[in-house]
Amino acid sequence: MEREKLIQAALEARTHSYSPYSHFQVGAALLTKEGKIYQGCNIENAAYTPSVCAERNAFFKAVYEGERNFAAIAIAGSPEGPCKAYAAPCGVCRQVMMEFCDPKEFCIITAKSTEEYREYSLEELLPMGFGPKDLEG
Ligand code: THU
Repeated sequence: MEREKLIQAALEARTHSYSPYSHFQVGAALLTKEGKIYQGCNIENAAYTPSVCAERNAFFKAVYEGERNFAAIAIAGSPEGPCKAYAAPCGVCRQVMMEFCDPKEFCIITAKSTEEYREYSLEELLPMGFGPKDLEG
């Protein structure tokens, strides 16, 4: 099943996390409308601010490859060890989603495992989001 596969990909991506400062490991798996999956993990930095979240890592990899149409993202994040929390995407990542995704359609899955997950639309997590359409006259 597509949702299980996406969550599994997020859990696998979490094992790539470089998070020696927060010890909070996050993986993300971004699904294109054509069915391709792009994975990302959080990558931290000794200077702190250059750190990037798993979700943006996945988006930027996909956008670099020419992808523009996205259906869903699965996120798996918690302190080191088994994934025990429902990690919520940060505000900056929600804004990046707003750039490329329809807020009513784009599905955000936050998961502990393939059995334990929660699903939201981007609109639910970013009400009245500002996006490319707002710049049109
Ligand atoms: N982080 C993510 O990668 N995604 C989220 O959804 C929440 C936070 C990262 C940023 C930082 O490396 C660590 O988790 C702790 O905030």
